[in-house]
Amino acid sequence: MCGIVGYVGDRKIEEVLIEGLRRLEYRGYDSCGLALNGEKSGIYRKRALGRIDNLARAIEGHTPSDKRSGIAHTRWATHGEPSEDNSHPHCDCSCEIVVVHNGIIENYSSLKDELEKKGHKFSSQTDTEVIAHLVEEKLKEISRGAGIKHALPEPLFFEAFRRAVNLLSGSFAVSALWVKAPELIMSARMHSPLTVGMGEGENFLASDVSAFLKYTKKVYFMDDGEIAAIRRNSAEFYDFKGKKNNKQPSIINWDLSMAEKGGYRHFMLKEIHEQALSAQNTMAGRLLPFEEKRIFSEIGLDFNEAARIKELQIIACGTAFHAGLVGKYVFERLGIRAAADLASEFESRAALLDRGTLVIAVSQSGETADTLHAVKAAKRNGNKVLAVTNTLGSSITREADYTLYTHCGPEIGVASTKAFLGQLIAFYMLAVNFSHARGITDPQKAEQLCRQLLLIPDLIEKTMALENKIEKLTEAFSSKEHYLFIGRDLSYPIALEGALKIKEISYVHAEGYAAGEMKHGPIAIIEKGMPVLSLALSSQSLDLIKGNIEEAKARGADIIAVVDEESKKTVKARHYLEVPQINELFSGALAVIPLQLFAYYIALQRKCDIDKPRNLAKSVTVR
Ligand code: AGP
Repeated sequence: MCGIVGYVGDRKIEEVLIEGLRRLEYRGYDSCGLALNGEKSGIYRKRALGRIDNLARAIEGHTPSDKRSGIAHTRWATHGEPSEDNSHPHCDCSCEIVVVHNGIIENYSSLKDELEKKGHKFSSQTDTEVIAHLVEEKLKEISRGAGIKHALPEPLFFEAFRRAVNLLSGSFAVSALWVKAPELIMSARMHSPLTVGMGEGENFLASDVSAFLKYTKKVYFMDDGEIAAIRRNSAEFYDFKGKKNNKQPSIINWDLSMAEKGGYRHFMLKEIHEQALSAQNTMAGRLLPFEEKRIFSEIGLDFNEAARIKELQIIACGTAFHAGLVGKYVFERLGIRAAADLASEFESRAALLDRGTLVIAVSQSGETADTLHAVKAAKRNGNKVLAVTNTLGSSITREADYTLYTHCGPEIGVASTKAFLGQLIAFYMLAVNFSHARGITDPQKAEQLCRQLLLIPDLIEKTMALENKIEKLTEAFSSKEHYLFIGRDLSYPIALEGALKIKEISYVHAEGYAAGEMKHGPIAIIEKGMPVLSLALSSQSLDLIKGNIEEAKARGADIIAVVDEESKKTVKARHYLEVPQINELFSGALAVIPLQLFAYYIALQRKCDIDKPRNLAKSVTVR
């Protein structure tokens, strides 16, 4: 997830842009850059690796005096490692058009191929650069009379930009400048936020309002499929066909701290709400039409080598381990043996691995010391390692032989939510592809499973409808000091994750257990009124989990059951949290959401520091 800022007006533009970027730095900052559009001096572009201070120093004393507008960007890399060449703004062949972008252009490689055939020269590995060359190509097309005749630069730029964005698929918030229209910023939004701030004789643009809230509280929130033409005295909105939208502005009553969180009280809640988008971005361009070699060629693993892999060893810590445990169950359901170990407990076992076993190391940050240490132990044993990570260029990507990125954007809350969701999606995709490569899952079944995966973002949104019910429910439980989370089979790791979430942000005691283990000891701790959160979704083990629920209830437990429409008919609980029906294989992606929300609202009731819980760090870089 990157940060975009734009400005047109009489202030010192570079100051407005730099200040705006600083407000968005939490969105990721492996590099940044800006472009200014001068009446006579043309386009001035400067980019820098690392923090925004580096950019501020680089432009000092070098910016043109006749600038009329500007755009800027802070980058969280998704395509192309962090480097100056891959930093935004990107430009067309003559650098008369500059573009900044947040999101993922799914069809960029085919667009790039076509543009290169037309002679366009690219200077980066990013998907974003394609947009600048597309606008350039459309300007030529219109000027050649292939489209509408235009005398004035601004309508010409508008039409070229509009045609270009109509060719894009995926998620994008994009803004562009053209040297011949120095008073105009063109922007478009599809599945990635973009807001326009309205001043007096000046206007602003940003990924979120925190970038310009100090100047104005009058804001337009752009909608998906919308284009904006922003000038100093106007902001006009159109659909992608060019039909004008009559939008009403909002008046923001957030303070700056809330604005950075998009109006949510905490980053954790914002990130729970981003999970549908994280799932969508992690699947983008990787599933349909089903092509058996696609994901393997993306990670650099030869298909025939993938077809020979008979066993997997998954290693990770904390929440990432819980995702890996789900991955183990899913791989095994699709016919491939898999083990999952805590990275901190793996080293002594590494030497016992068969060399043909593929090790999958999961780490959101890619910097967790225990996981990196375990990866090195596996490498010493001669095993190939596939990293699943959310952070481009992180240490784990340099240690691993292959890397599959989740595309969840930076996760700020210490308690991992959207990154966990992205890790589940990664395992679902890997399990389907490896099972097909082994000849266990046929192409038709693989295609069908991919179609079911693509339903997940909408089902996540539907699951979020539980939020108000859960907020209310937690009022009755916020004084409790002990919780039990139980689940079986594919839901067992979700029970572990639910217990971890509530522990790490509410500081209460909570245990996740395989429900079948209850009678082997844990049931002794159940007292009257003890909350037992039970994963009771439609599954081959539903009857058994119902028995465990009855056992707990008989000892006074207060049962909160996560169910689906089918299982709700027969599960006997005091409280029901119903999630949409989904293929059991992928049920974890929905079942975890009520547990995340439950943990969040318990912590809120207990007035805990939810984004920065005591004693914890976002990335544990020590062993
Ligand atoms: C999860 O909410 C915790 N923040 C923690 O368990 C985390 O998942 C673990 O430290 C692993 O981090 P990683 O994914 O960056 O390796």
